[in-house]
Amino acid sequence: MVEPAVTDSSPPIRTVPFFRFRPVGREAELILQVLESGWLTTGRMAMEFESAFARAVGARHALAVNSCTAALHLALEALGVGPGQRVLVPSMTFTATAEVVRYLGADVIVTDVDPTTRMWTPEILDRAAAEHPEARFCMPVHFGGHPAPMLTGPSGAGLLEVAERRGLTVVEDAAHAFPARLEGRAVGSFGRVTCFSFYANKTITTGEGGMLVTDDDAIAARCRVMRVHGIDRDVWKRFTTPGTSWDYDVIAPGFKYNMPDLNAAIGLAQLECAEDLRRGRKAIADAYHVRLADIDHVGLPPVTCEPDGHAWHLFPITLADGAPIDRNTLSQQMASAGIGTSVHYRPLHRMTYWRDRYDLRPERFPGAEMAWRRSLSLPIFSGMTEPELDHVCSTLRRLLA
Ligand SMILES: Cc1ncc(COP(=O)(O)O)c(C=O)c1O
Repeated sequence: MVEPAVTDSSPPIRTVPFFRFRPVGREAELILQVLESGWLTTGRMAMEFESAFARAVGARHALAVNSCTAALHLALEALGVGPGQRVLVPSMTFTATAEVVRYLGADVIVTDVDPTTRMWTPEILDRAAAEHPEARFCMPVHFGGHPAPMLTGPSGAGLLEVAERRGLTVVEDAAHAFPARLEGRAVGSFGRVTCFSFYANKTITTGEGGMLVTDDDAIAARCRVMRVHGIDRDVWKRFTTPGTSWDYDVIAPGFKYNMPDLNAAIGLAQLECAEDLRRGRKAIADAYHVRLADIDHVGLPPVTCEPDGHAWHLFPITLADGAPIDRNTLSQQMASAGIGTSVHYRPLHRMTYWRDRYDLRPERFPGAEMAWRRSLSLPIFSGMTEPELDHVCSTLRRLLA
């Protein structure tokens, strides 16, 4: 349900943020528990969060880390990505998806996306793999919270089957996609390794944070070691086993990626309310679909998964050809009306580093070009009120009349 107006006489809404966090459950209680426990870094709360998250997505292992970027980096490292290797990534993503490949000295192959879903179709992945047989890995992105077509596509095979046929190991970038479901299965339950983000504006948050999930014991074991400096015993076990806290070995030059209990406390509280948070966002998405349907020149984000399968991290609208104003002007005028919007994304091929390193030209990315030039993401968050929704919809209607 969209939150109702406070009263009929409440003052008119003047601002709508792009996102607003609010505690929804036991955040304060669990943070206090951590503070009073005397143990602030990774410990009991992080372990509880991991177990609850693993149950929620139906995976054997869940490893809490301090960002999705860290999770993606750990996943690729554990899979053996290194110098000389090539990883397929979509151009329509946040730079983190690609940057972790470079951390390891490997190279990305940036590919186009479908202009309406902003994601890979199985056909796009198949074509890219055929053109680049040297690629051994691929990183599908579940854009905006809509699951990517991992299991089936229009002509049968989904991304996982295409990847298998082409000899590609898959690391799913599910930064936007918790809780999301595809064909009745949770995102995180079907891939080899899946990485989620709990950045502040995600459907559930820890402030900053991420989670890597996998059913593969060897990958989980490697990531567990590498997320804390390559140390062979985790800090909680060392300090809770009497007399041996100093006794550890270093088996690799690892990273500092563990999630502190303070953040895990927020995450566990949010996880307990994840379905409410998702439903809160879905109510806004449903309302936008109804109220914006008859505005000329506005394309709404397509939904091809089951109705409750979309995490609704983003609500990107698309301006049609012939719209009275362009996207940048629309964004500025929405800002003048006090409304926060964003663009997801200026694609990788238009970012200086990626463009220059791989000589990427826009004409090779017609789908991503079409999507990004006309795309504007509207505010969407659980707890957005009816007057706020009204202000966004009426402002759009006025600006596009
Ligand atoms: C598609 C995508 N992948 C990865 C990330 C990185 O997530 P984090 O900020 O948790 O590192 C983001 C960030 O929002 C993202 O949008």
